[in-house]
Amino acid sequence: MNNSRQALLQQIKDGQFHSGEQLSAELSVSRTAVRKIIKQLQQLGLDIESRHGMGYRLQRPVELLDSDKIFAHLQKRARPLCNGIDVLFETDSTNQYLAARCAHESCSGHVVLAEHQSQGRGRRGNQWLSPLAGGISLSVAWRTDYTYASLGLLSLFVGVAVARALSKIGIHEVGLKWPNDILVHHQKIGGILIEMQGEANGPIAMVIGIGINHAIPTKIAQAIDQPVTDIVSHVQNTVSRNELAAILISELLLLLNGTTEDDHEALLEEWRRYDCYKDRMANLLLHDSEISGQVMGIDDDGCLLISVDGHVERYMSGELSVRLQS
Ligand code: BTN
Repeated sequence: MNNSRQALLQQIKDGQFHSGEQLSAELSVSRTAVRKIIKQLQQLGLDIESRHGMGYRLQRPVELLDSDKIFAHLQKRARPLCNGIDVLFETDSTNQYLAARCAHESCSGHVVLAEHQSQGRGRRGNQWLSPLAGGISLSVAWRTDYTYASLGLLSLFVGVAVARALSKIGIHEVGLKWPNDILVHHQKIGGILIEMQGEANGPIAMVIGIGINHAIPTKIAQAIDQPVTDIVSHVQNTVSRNELAAILISELLLLLNGTTEDDHEALLEEWRRYDCYKDRMANLLLHDSEISGQVMGIDDDGCLLISVDGHVERYMSGELSVRLQS
């Protein structure tokens, strides 16, 4: 079934009408089966119009992900750091896929992308919705000598890599919300989930997952419990999904490898320039409580500083989330 969904999408990806008869011949299935597959594609988030006498067409053409195209668009310096690119049509979660296969050293730099995730994972146990071909869902396996203590910083720096990638495609109003939500005009356009395995003081194997909304159907945007936006709402011309994936992967690999020449201080300064919550009143959700105060930015360890009743408190990365009061 997975294969027939993929095959049908290949046929209709151009955004033109395709008759049921033609599709059933191309896929060697009955017209009833074509109708069924179309319904499944619609349920997975594709906007497909069905018109009597004309057939089916996508409301907007879709560029499917292709590993060769992505590799060809990687920055030259990033290519040696990339240890293979898998493009999956559907998976539960690209983070889960890599974590299950790639704990060993030789996997570092392996990249996986999926057109659709059935159980996309977000931070704090939240679900990440990945409508079919509507975003970029990618994960990168990486081994590092970073210690757990500095991983909070690393997660902030991944946000900087994503912000740089979005600026490169013409989105200049990118903001970062501690620890690593990516926003445009206070609406979420992407998120980062870093999962790791390793010893307390040894090298760490991690999976860095990045989800970016490319073209999110209105129905799905409405089902998300916070304001969201997507790439197509902020750029004039069509942005190739393969090119966007390549830019994200290049920026990430170069940053992880330390190729970008930026030292921690420079990266922290850059993060602070993207910080879109600094000085705002906010609620900070802890595991079992919530505090309110004024966000004072981050310290040099990447911890959030928040002023509560005149006292500046410091919170570690990764355990908290922030919400605007108004
Ligand atoms: C968040 O903002 O809560 C983090 C979202 C991270 C989503 C990405 S999509 C690719 C990778 N695979 C997952 O299951 N999650 C991450």
